[in-house]
Order: sequence, then structure tokens, then C-alpha cells
Amino acid sequence: MSVFQATASAPVNIACIKYWGKRDTKLILPTNSSLSVTLDQDHLRSTTTSRADPSFKKDTLWLNGKDDPIKEGGRLATCINELKRLRKVLVEDKDASAPKLSTYAVHIASYNNFPTAAGLASSASGFAALVSSLAKLYELPSTPSELSLIARQGSGSACRSLFGGYVAWEMGTKADGSDSYAVEVAPQSHWPEMHAVICVVNDAKKGTSSTSGMQRTVETSALLQHRIKHVVPKRMADISAAIQARDFDAFAQITMADSNQFHAVALDTEPPIFYMNDVSKAIIALIVEYNRVALEKTGHLKAAYTYDAGPNAVIYTLQENAKEIVELIHKYFPQKEAFNDRFQLFGGEGVKGKVVEGFNE
Ligand code: DP6
Repeated sequence: MSVFQATASAPVNIACIKYWGKRDTKLILPTNSSLSVTLDQDHLRSTTTSRADPSFKKDTLWLNGKDDPIKEGGRLATCINELKRLRKVLVEDKDASAPKLSTYAVHIASYNNFPTAAGLASSASGFAALVSSLAKLYELPSTPSELSLIARQGSGSACRSLFGGYVAWEMGTKADGSDSYAVEVAPQSHWPEMHAVICVVNDAKKGTSSTSGMQRTVETSALLQHRIKHVVPKRMADISAAIQARDFDAFAQITMADSNQFHAVALDTEPPIFYMNDVSKAIIALIVEYNRVALEKTGHLKAAYTYDAGPNAVIYTLQENAKEIVELIHKYFPQKEAFNDRFQLFGGEGVKGKVVEGFNE
């Protein structure tokens, strides 16, 4: 008997222009376009295996070894059903000899090799890996942009993890969401010197989830309206141009400004949301000072911090400065634990990075 099984993996992406706000919560259509860098390192990815079998009773997901119920009508069910529909329409209806996998239940096992829901975008790599593994299992002829339309309905930021390198999520204008998908801005090879230093300030599950936090912001923040109309469109164009030109100064300025504004709209939410803690803020102060000295000496910036919905810092920098930044972080933020094997520079197709863990808070 044939075994129908496929495994795929997807890395985390960290946004430089943040997605924060939905105009349609069911289809997950954003209030603004966003842009991210996909990290590719062994330590920050989700790997998912999917298996279809006529003997399976119902679709089941195990997340990091634990049964994770699939809620009817929920995001997971939406993604699985949409992929089954595509299997039927694009494969089975066209080839009568193709196994009717769309009628079988699936068992899905997904594993994150980093803390789940700690502001490290686990839902992004998770849904991207899930969609990729089912697309592989079903032998769908779909492009990454087409698959991003489905991953988007699992978690908005997941649509960007279907690509490596520099990725934009175009917000689109259509009510059905058919033009709200991810596109590649540039491959990793276009600017391979880009590195990310990830500082795990706290790996506990965060207090306010992105989903509920951003909805509250949409409902209550006047600053968000200004941001989506008057700030993000120009930033999207400017940062795309900076990436094309490999202009780190412009890339860093825009990335830090957008992180700051995202946290400002979180604070402008009623009741206010605080994602950064004192360590996060101290890392900002350190990077600001580091850049001030660099600017004075060389006329250029050396680092760009950015924070998602949690206290962990991601510092983008060029390869030549990565070691210095890690040393600086270690010097000013003594580590709880001894360094471990995570302190290597990571290779692969995406942007290389380092993980620095265990800050004293
Ligand atoms: C701050 O994609 O996790 O990381 O679509 O509700 O699942 P849902 O939200 P999610 O939000 C990510 C928010 C962010 C910014 C970003 O990644 O662009």
C-alpha cells in the first residue's frame, strides 16, 4: 500500500515594516502592507510532516508533540480545507488516476525548535511549514505567492515565510483577499552580508497576543490611522529601494523608525499594550549609542533594532559587525547561562543570524 506523506520546513521572518491591524479578521486582510527578512538558521524554524490515509478518522495536529485541537471554522481548519479543495480542483479533477487524497483525513505533526509565542513569530513559520507540507503531500502546482494566500489565513505574517530573503506582503484592495499575498523583493543572495542577531530577552509566552492586540489597536488608536495612510506606503517604497541598492543606512533608519512606531501604536491602544520591557529598552539605548559612535567615525550606521509583539530584540547588521555586536550585548547584558552551541553563525539560504539567550531581567 502506498504511503502518502510529506515533510516541509519554513523559517521565521522578522518584519522591518510591521503588519499590525486587520481590515477583515476572517480572511486576515491587513490594514497596511508589510516587509520582512526571512531568517534561515537551524535554530529558528518549524518543520511539519503531513500524512493522508483512508484509515484516519479526523484531521489531527500535534504541535511540539502535544495534541492541538483543530477547531471547526478556525484558522487551521480553513488552511487544511483550502488545500484539500485545491488538491481536488487542481489534481484529482484533472487526472482520474490521482489518489483521492482530498477525501482522506490528515495527520499533521509540527515542531518548532524555539519558544512558541514568545514574540519570535512561531505562528509565521508554523503556518508556512504546514501549508508547504500539505502542498507537497497533495502535489499542488501552486507558486509560493499562491500558497501565501492560504498561509495568510492561518496567520497574517506566515504568508511572508513562504519566501526566503526580503519579502513584501502586499495588502491588496479586493474584498475577497485574492490580491493580498507575499512577493519576493530580493533573494537572500542579493544582499548576503545581512545578518540578524536575536536576543532572547524572555521566552515566556507573551501577555497580549498579536491577534487580540492588533484588533484593539484598530478599534481604539488614532495614531494607527495616521500610520496606515501617511507613513507605511512611503516606507514600503523607501525600504524596497534601500534593499535594491544595498543601502544599510536607509534600511536601518526605516527599520528602527517602524519598530518605534509599531510600539507607539501599541501604547496608543486603549487599554495600552506594552511589549518591550526594561531590558528591551536598554538594548535600544545601547544600539543608539553604538550607531552614534559609528556615524561619527565612519559616516554610517552599523545596526538596526526591531521588536515584534514581545520583548526580544532582533538586531539587523552587516556581517562585518555581527561579532562586535554580539560581544557588546554580552558585555552589557551578562548572560544567565553559559554560552552554548547556539552561538554560531548560521548558514543556509536565508539571512544568517546568531541567537543570544538568557538575559538577566
Ligand atoms: C508584530 O501574524 O502573529 O509580528 O495574523 O493575527 O496571526 P495574526 O497576527 P501575526 O502578527 C504579527 C505581528 C508582528 C508584525 C509582523 O510580523 O509584521
